[in-house]
Amino acid sequence: MSSKNIIVGLDVGTTKVCTIVGIKNLESGLEIIGIGTHASLGLKKGAVVNIDLTVESIRNSVEEARLMSGVNITSATIGIAGGHIYSFNSSGVVAIKGKEITSDDVSRVLEAAKAVVIPSDREIIHVIPQEFKVDNTTGIKNPVGMCGVRLEAHVHIVTGSISLVQNLVKCVEMAGVRVENITLQPIASSEAVLSTEEKEMGIILIDIGGGTTDVAIWKDGSLLHTEIIPVGGNHFTNDLAIALKIPHAEAERIKINHGSVLAENINQSAHITVQGLGGQKPREIQLSIVAEVLGARAEELFELVQTQIKEKGFDQSITGGFVLTGGGAMIKGLTELAEYVLEKPVKIGIPISFGGMTNIMQSPKFSTVLGLLIEANKSKPFIEEFESKEKATFDLVTKLSDSLKAVFKEIF
Ligand SMILES: Nc1ncnc2c1ncn2[C@@H]1O[C@H](COP(=O)(O)OP(=O)(O)OP(=O)(O)O)[C@@H](O)[C@H]1O
Ligand SMILES: [Mg+2]
Repeated sequence: MSSKNIIVGLDVGTTKVCTIVGIKNLESGLEIIGIGTHASLGLKKGAVVNIDLTVESIRNSVEEARLMSGVNITSATIGIAGGHIYSFNSSGVVAIKGKEITSDDVSRVLEAAKAVVIPSDREIIHVIPQEFKVDNTTGIKNPVGMCGVRLEAHVHIVTGSISLVQNLVKCVEMAGVRVENITLQPIASSEAVLSTEEKEMGIILIDIGGGTTDVAIWKDGSLLHTEIIPVGGNHFTNDLAIALKIPHAEAERIKINHGSVLAENINQSAHITVQGLGGQKPREIQLSIVAEVLGARAEELFELVQTQIKEKGFDQSITGGFVLTGGGAMIKGLTELAEYVLEKPVKIGIPISFGGMTNIMQSPKFSTVLGLLIEANKSKPFIEEFESKEKATFDLVTKLSDSLKAVFKEIF
């Protein structure tokens, strides 16, 4: 299969590494042809803490996707998150040189907006334009071609620790995959689950992963703010393991199969059998106790989100409510509890579907990787296969005539 129109999204998460292979085609746009998911063993709170284990997890996930798709994976768009990410808004102004604004003017104003002092151990990952202002006209998305004398840009800047970004890039490259682009994970998840209307109206995405909860705030079609909170689904499991004095793996099983965050909805007589620590006998526990532990953590997490939103002053301007996604959003009762704490409508965000093996990806835990695939798709133009077919035919004819020449040489 030709690799020209192959695109790959690679999500190196705290709990899983997921690789997804898509092929661009003219009729259906994007078709998924391979998926590889493997447990992630070398990350903590979104950051690499063990290079060898991370490389191995990436290799396994990429190999699974390669086997399923039948294509060699050489490059990918990867996601980044972790407590080291820090984002802020900035602006810049330039004088317009000619009569009309050109793409050069836009590049210059974006350069001016990103000319902010950041600590020497940090690098800029994204400079995302929010809006442009030409003279006194605000709210412009694309100023190219407009007339004016003064161009102003408002941007959202995402920065990360140089060494932590490099550690992730190094692991991916050690696994044999070149990094084409790096995208902040909540931006990728937003691409996969939010509609254009929702981003226009004003909405907050909360991606609850294993190690982090990633927040992205959208309004008027622009990204206003991003935040990485170092609390995720693993903290729910840890709480359960500590409160019930059970092994971590058993706590994870109970959370996934029997967990809920609404203790009041659970019958007091409902019990489950749990394995004790270190060879202790299995024992019965009340399901409402499980829900109380998980509910307390969920409430605390949404309060943290609420505090961040209020601190940044977005609580009044966002009318569309919240969308929960990520594997951690799958605990029963989470939307109801979130509505109660956040006092706005809340729903679960499931990734939009593509052609190919799209139905197995219809889960909140695949939002980031699908968003990375969408980002990769946007940055790579469709390449006509016609040229290569012609070349392949030419190569075949050359090969055939060469071997015929050899045969004739041998005979005569
Ligand atoms: N059915 C389920 N019910 C409850 N929780 C679930 C369910 N399935 C997965 N989870 C939880 O989701 C979390 C993993 O989510 P996800 O796969 O989105 O994380 P990740 O991308 O690996 O991590 P991160 O984004 O933090 O780096 C784990 O804590 C896991 O326990
Ligand atoms: Mg994730």
